[in-house]
Amino acid sequence: MLAVQNIKKSFNKKEVVKGVTFSVEKGEAFGLLGPNGAGKSTTISMICGLLASDSGDILVGGASVKSSPSEIKKKIGIVPQEIALYPTMSARDNLIFWGRMYGLSRKEAKIRSEEVLEYVGLKDKATEKVETFSGGMKRRINIGAALMHEPELLIMDEPTVGIDPQSRNHILETVKELNQKGMTVIYTSHYMEEVEFLCERIGIIDQGKVIALGTRSDLCSRLAGGTVVKIGLSQFSDSLVAELNKLDFIEKIISDRDEARLEIYVSSKGNAAAKIISAASAQGLLVQSLELQEPNLETLFLQLTGRSLRD
Ligand SMILES: Nc1ncnc2c1ncn2[C@@H]1O[C@H](COP(=O)(O)OP(=O)(O)OP(=O)(O)O)[C@@H](O)[C@H]1O
Ligand SMILES: [Mg+2]
Repeated sequence: MLAVQNIKKSFNKKEVVKGVTFSVEKGEAFGLLGPNGAGKSTTISMICGLLASDSGDILVGGASVKSSPSEIKKKIGIVPQEIALYPTMSARDNLIFWGRMYGLSRKEAKIRSEEVLEYVGLKDKATEKVETFSGGMKRRINIGAALMHEPELLIMDEPTVGIDPQSRNHILETVKELNQKGMTVIYTSHYMEEVEFLCERIGIIDQGKVIALGTRSDLCSRLAGGTVVKIGLSQFSDSLVAELNKLDFIEKIISDRDEARLEIYVSSKGNAAAKIISAASAQGLLVQSLELQEPNLETLFLQLTGRSLRD
């Protein structure tokens, strides 16, 4: 469905997308996960043909965005990060407007708008102005706008940021259902849970580069160790960190000196926690809190970059 081939983009001589490559199969839900400023929206804009790449190519259904932009735009529905609706128009009129923009006739757009209103759960608000809507309701209409022309590929750029939990769940369920019915989905987010819920394959993007790509289990199996033992100590101790680093089952330690906390990546869960506690008490330190975290994409990101996905 989509092949992104080594695309690059600079703004004011600063390269923000540095050779991104990935592909998405028909019917797949693909997640693009990365922190603020990673280059997700810039990548999405290039896929949709809203922004030209400096180099590389993008193929949608085998056709290049460079040579057949209008053909490609018909195949794609885009839900942009910033809500794009006419505030003084009703929900229905917004949908009809976007349907027309995507090439539907007035009659087709009218019929389709009723289906879409039903689908996004806003049929009872059809005639109300969008400016009176909550953030979550605006989002649902924005998603509806992208669905008007029944695209083959739905691309969503952080569609759940800043909305209430109920709308968030509604959106996630809607996207899951669309994908199960056969729509190819690209879902961009910095929320690991959403990407894990929706997507079978995931690309992790950071500072303009794809730093990991694969299924969730592929990615988690790449973690050195996997489980993280998080402990809070009565006080921070460099010598404890040095002692722990000597233990062969410990892969990596991230220290938070101010909070006297350690995040310890272990290769096998076994009795790692017990050994860590006894190493601490051998130095007269008290373990005040202890938490075991199973491997996930957040841990992988931390391990690859030394930073957290969310700031
Ligand atoms: N039009 C522009 N002009 C200059 N710099 C830009 C422009 N658009 C994006 N950037 C910069 O490019 C980098 C990537 O931005 P982008 O919006 O693609 O990130 P993102 O992953 O979508 O982040 P977020 O999660 O915050 O939406 C950022 O450093 C941003 O400041
Ligand atoms: Mg963005």
